[in-house]
Amino acid sequence: MKLLIKNAQIVTMNKKEEIIKGDLLIHDDRIVSVGPSLNEALADRVIDATGKTIIPGFVQTHIHLCQTLFRGKGDDLELMDWLKKRIWPLEASHDEESIYYSALLGIGELLQSGTTTIVDMETVSHTDFAFRAIAESGIRALSGKVMMDKGNEVPVGLQEKTAQSIQESVDLLEKWHMYDSGRIQYAFSPRFVVSCTEELLREVQKLSTHYNVMVHTHASENLGEIAIVEKETGMRNVVYLDHLGLANERLILAHCIWLDEQEKQIIKERGVHVSHCPGSNLKLASGIADIPDLLENGSSVSLGADGAPCNNNLDMFNEMRLAALIQKPLHGPTSMNARTVFRMATIGGARAVGMDQEIGSIEDGKKADIAILNLNHFHTFPSYDVDPISRIVYSATRADVETTIVNGKVVMENGLMKTVDKEN
Ligand code: GUN
Ligand code: FE
Repeated sequence: MKLLIKNAQIVTMNKKEEIIKGDLLIHDDRIVSVGPSLNEALADRVIDATGKTIIPGFVQTHIHLCQTLFRGKGDDLELMDWLKKRIWPLEASHDEESIYYSALLGIGELLQSGTTTIVDMETVSHTDFAFRAIAESGIRALSGKVMMDKGNEVPVGLQEKTAQSIQESVDLLEKWHMYDSGRIQYAFSPRFVVSCTEELLREVQKLSTHYNVMVHTHASENLGEIAIVEKETGMRNVVYLDHLGLANERLILAHCIWLDEQEKQIIKERGVHVSHCPGSNLKLASGIADIPDLLENGSSVSLGADGAPCNNNLDMFNEMRLAALIQKPLHGPTSMNARTVFRMATIGGARAVGMDQEIGSIEDGKKADIAILNLNHFHTFPSYDVDPISRIVYSATRADVETTIVNGKVVMENGLMKTVDKEN
């Protein structure tokens, strides 16, 4: 199948971050030509993108699809009370059907707003049904069942034994890891240090090495959470994870707001990936992460919307905008510019999931994960000289996304999802 997209403005995010005017040719799942004008007779399908802008699909490195149905639950509590009073009882109430539809609803919104890859954390049970939604929707995802084998304030439905948590994770991994030629991958998802025994975390370390898969967890999000970790382990979050051998390039840490110098050093030296979630960090009153500092020392930072209750939007446009805006009063107008946050949302996310040779930019040979935008809703004079990346970061909305393509397949067009896989 050859798909030709004609006459577009292409924001490549290649090494030179070039913006090219021309055609894009996709052959099956890969990009095969960027820029040169091509004959329509070459293709099975042609999309006329005159006046439109093509961008690399966004990579969100921290999402909870299972929480989409609980959108908006809470703007009155901080993390630990919010989890105990709102989120854990709701997660415990999930059944197979509700988790499937929660995932599908979230994925619909993500694709609609140009996100093509997610790192997702589910709940304790029924994760197989979230994977089915992921498989059918065509989105690229690294996902896993949440692991939480510790804590007596957890509702009965979320309590699990260490061995059972590990066995269920491995069973899901065996079923879903590398599904659809690697479009789906498994990621071990210990919830956070507060919820996990040392035995469980040590086993996750061994298994993630054995299977060469990512580990996705939360760390240093909230001062109350950090106090619990310090009381129970005698260590700061990242120091403890490093002590257990988990701090390496396969680790994604969501939030990382309250890092001390030692933790920052570990993140940098071990190549740990930080997922910055500005919307969630604001809504849960968790704090403002010092992202300019992490970027300056060369650490890997990408973006995620987190779950729908702690951020009523799963939309990357929103996260990019917040990521830029919240730093400006603190660090000056150039501290987090549009290009910096756009890079985090695309190639930065690809780097976090170890796929920067495959996704995150529009280049020959890469997977065709892209979104086609119409940016002319606000900017009615397309010739007016504004950097398209600045236009996207500060004014694009999901209504501007016309088509989303993953692995060369159109998975969302004019607001409608296209099922790609009904085998499950
Ligand atoms: N820390 C542990 N679990 C969660 C969760 O579900 N959401 C957020 N934001 N932080 C967490
Ligand atoms: Fe989260």
